[in-house]
Amino acid sequence: MTSNCNAFRARILHFTDIPNPSDGTGFEYFEDGVLVVEQGRIRSLDSAANMAAQGFDLSQCQHFPDHLLMPGFIDSHIHSPQTDVIVSYGEQLLDWLNKFTFPNELKFSCFQHSEQKASEFLDILLENGTTSAMVFTTVFAQSTDALFKTAQQRNMRMMAGKVMMDRNAPEGLCDTPEQSERECRALIEKWHKVGRMRYALTPRFAPTSSPEQLAVAGRLYRDYPGLYLQTHLSENIKEVAWIKELFPQAKDYLDVYDQYGLLGTRSVFAHGIHLSDREVSRLAETGSGIAFCPTSNLFIGSGLMDMARLEDAGIPISVATDVGGGTSFSLLRTLAEAYKVLQLQEQNLNPLKGLYMATLGNARSLMLDGYIGNFETNKEADFVLLNLTPNRLQKARQAVASSLEDTLFALMMLGDEMNVDRTYIMGKLAFQRHGHNQGEMQWMR
Ligand code: GUN
Ligand code: ZN
Repeated sequence: MTSNCNAFRARILHFTDIPNPSDGTGFEYFEDGVLVVEQGRIRSLDSAANMAAQGFDLSQCQHFPDHLLMPGFIDSHIHSPQTDVIVSYGEQLLDWLNKFTFPNELKFSCFQHSEQKASEFLDILLENGTTSAMVFTTVFAQSTDALFKTAQQRNMRMMAGKVMMDRNAPEGLCDTPEQSERECRALIEKWHKVGRMRYALTPRFAPTSSPEQLAVAGRLYRDYPGLYLQTHLSENIKEVAWIKELFPQAKDYLDVYDQYGLLGTRSVFAHGIHLSDREVSRLAETGSGIAFCPTSNLFIGSGLMDMARLEDAGIPISVATDVGGGTSFSLLRTLAEAYKVLQLQEQNLNPLKGLYMATLGNARSLMLDGYIGNFETNKEADFVLLNLTPNRLQKARQAVASSLEDTLFALMMLGDEMNVDRTYIMGKLAFQRHGHNQGEMQWMR
């Protein structure tokens, strides 16, 4: 191996397609596997026995015999300026925004605050094993710039955008259609497709954008190839009723976005709980994605997303934390809540399917599977090392796990960031829970 080459030996799991638990297809699991990374990319993956048989010297490996090595988690919808409003008490969406979220986002008019909070935000993602995310920043272009800059320093694959919002919000948080267009263009020119950065147009949601501003978003979406678009859709009953007042001529909520050309395979709509059959068909027809945000939907009291209905219609569904409406940065916790939301609707979430969603599934939904999501040769080597037994409870439960599926189910239902021992970005250690000083977390920036 050259000096740019690294080998990791552990239990290894990744997905090659939607997993089928009954016939064991769609995923690969190595009880004792070796992942070889060269210049930040996957070079090979095989069992230790096969590698040794081919003459590979296993003593070169960093060996983590009890750990589970998996692709890094991908969060398809999260708000970087909302770390400090996570778990804000007692309100549903519209009051929650006015009482907690908007006042906090006003603080990001200060560049220093934006930089410091962006850095903290990315540290928390890494601590949770999240290596890529699609991120709302704030209306202040400098907060978007700060996020891209800090993500680039860490070499994380990141999609983000400046919030477009020109009405129904505090004056200090509103831009104008012209300002939005100018600032978005500048950010796109500066960051879109630069290294691992991608720009996502980010009209907050239809109630906070004028028709003129939505038209700007549509124009920009057409002007620049490969842009993403992220917004919110049909999260809360009062929000849906408000849309009827604000856009009386629209067929429904989705139609507002549709009229301005905002649907498509690179569009990600968060929530999608209260959708009509017409909206479901139209999402499917245009290949538009829905981000399922279970901890947020429970915490803000928004409702239960009907995953089977949306999936059966053929809508790409990703899974997301939606912090700070969501209550955890951990995709493991998020999957546990997804499981419960689906149980309440007599649906199931197999752990293989859940872990697929948090990795390859989300990469596919975000059109990133050419770069990340699994350990196919040449993909970018973002991965996590999970400790399956970080506490007494998980130790006890894992000791009686009856199968791989059961092991993964216990991880999905009981796990959180404390299971994430190490996070790697393009083959380089970016976070470790146990640093040189016992018990001290370390980020390698
Ligand atoms: N709808 C509009 N803005 C927001 C937000 O910041 N969080 C959530 N969960 N929903 C929204
Ligand atoms: Zn959101």
